[in-house]
Formats: sequence, C-alpha cells, structure tokens
Amino acid sequence: MRYLLLDSGNCRKLEQVGDIRLVRPALNAFWQPSLPASDWENVSGIFSRDSGGGGTWEWKEKVPESWQIEWGGLQFIVKPTGFGHLGFFAEQHENWEWLRKTVSVMGAKPKTLNLFAYSGASSLSMAQGGAEVFHLDSSKGMNDWARNNLQINSTIPDSIHWVTEDVLKYAARETRRAKKYNGIVLDPPSFGRGAQGQIWKMENDLIKLMNSCRDLIDRSSKHFILLSCHSPGFTPVILERIIADVFEKGTFESGEMTVPEKSGRKLPAGTFARYMGKW
Ligand SMILES: C[S@@+](CC[C@H](N)C(=O)[O-])C[C@H]1O[C@@H](n2cnc3c(N)ncnc32)[C@H](O)[C@@H]1O
Repeated sequence: MRYLLLDSGNCRKLEQVGDIRLVRPALNAFWQPSLPASDWENVSGIFSRDSGGGGTWEWKEKVPESWQIEWGGLQFIVKPTGFGHLGFFAEQHENWEWLRKTVSVMGAKPKTLNLFAYSGASSLSMAQGGAEVFHLDSSKGMNDWARNNLQINSTIPDSIHWVTEDVLKYAARETRRAKKYNGIVLDPPSFGRGAQGQIWKMENDLIKLMNSCRDLIDRSSKHFILLSCHSPGFTPVILERIIADVFEKGTFESGEMTVPEKSGRKLPAGTFARYMGKW
C-alpha cells in the first residue's frame, strides 16, 4: 500500500495513505484544489490546526491505530499523532535517495550521524546505502518507532546505533572525545526539547550546532552535510550560507523539498541544503 498526494489547495492537502484517505493542513497551498469537493469530503479523517500550534483530528470513521505504507523506497509504520503528523515527512523522499547514493560512493563503510532523526527514514536510507549510522533523537518514543520501521524493512542491514539524547549535549560530548563522522544529517524543528527538557530554538542554537558539526566531521576524506527544515524564513540560500560559514570549501546545492501530486504538480514543504567536501 502506497502513499499518494491526491490534491492540494485552500491551504490543505488530500492524501491517500495506504487504504486511508486524510485531509491535513498545507499552509502554503494558496491555490484552488483541482479535484471536486466530493473527493475532499469522502475521507476518513480531517486534521485542523488551532491557533496554539496544536490541533484536532475529526474522524468520520474508525481507522486502525497504526498501519503500514510504502513511500520513497521505504516501508513506514503510520500513526496519526495529536500534532497532525503521521510518522513520515513525504517531502524528504529526494533527500533519502540522495543519501543512499552519496554514502554508497564514499568508500569503506562511512560513519554518519542523523540528528533530530524522528522515525528514522534518513537513518534507514543511509544504512541501505552501506553506512554505519548513529541515529539521535531526544524522544525515546520516536526512537522506538524508528527501530520498528527498521524491523519492517527487512532487507536493510541493522547497522544503526540508537541514541536518545539532547542534540547539543551529544555533539559537545562527541567533540570532547574527538569522535569523527563522514556525514551529518540535520532536520531541526523550530522549537524542540532535549531528553532532559533542554530547549532547542532554531534561531539561537543552529549556529552553535553547525560549529560542533565542523569539529565532528572528518575533513581529511569525502564528507557531507544535509540540512533541512520547515522553519519560516530559513530559505534554501540561507541554509546554504549557514553551512558555508563553517565549511568553506566544497560544493553546495539547495532547494525546496516537494511532494509530487497526482496532477503532476508539486506541493512545496520546507527547504534543504547539501554540502559535499573533498569530493
Ligand atoms: C524531525 S524533527 C522536525 C522535522 C521537521 N523539520 C519539522 O519542523 O517539523 C523533530 C524531531 O527532533 C527531535 N528533537 C527536538 N528537539 C531535540 C533536541 N533538543 N535534541 C534531540 N532531538 C530533538 C524530536 O523528538 C523530533 O523527533
């Protein structure tokens, strides 16, 4: 059972998530939907965001607590959360493909770090490409979810170490221990909390974290950084400049993350920048 973005418009998106059809917010979908209103009404659940940043699901029929889908070359356990998330960010699919390819040409088993690793799609993609992966998230629940995702992707090698910790605390300790990685993936939220309640704020903390990443990257051989986010104001060029500030020489690419729509158009959702050094 696959994922398919059926339509978007009026700041919402209509998604086929395996057998289940859902409507969720798509805050930049300022255009008109292409499918008729009846398609948008014939759904199992609708998530609406409230002014406090949370929101509620309105269920029109009972759906399973969780189910399984395929997207971007991976199997996912899908669970509607109170935050309106399902456990995967469909717009990351091109980054997963890029990670698979990139780690597969880096030579002897590269060692990579996935920060803010969520349900593990980037970690699984890097393991698929042949990397030894350190997967870090502050939420034990998310790390359990990611491990379960690895279990249902039975062809992916179990070359992932699971770390439940605050990102800045881990980066500082690894730097003290002079640990080195060949690639680092970061998908920071605007606001988050570490494993002991530490506050993560993108505007205050991203530069600090990028400086630690410079210390953690082995710059003597091929290395990479993939930075993505959904935070307003962090455009592709801004992400590129943030990386370029700490990694002077190398090649950069950046852009918007998008989800292909059934109509052939694309729904933009967030931005990314990729850096490759000594390539
Ligand atoms: C995948 S990222 C955000 C994804 C997306 N860019 C967004 O803005 O919605 C969210 C993950 O970061 C984790 N996280 C938040 N603050 C953290 C921190 N201080 N240290 C480690 N992980 C953190 C959360 O548990 C969550 O799984």
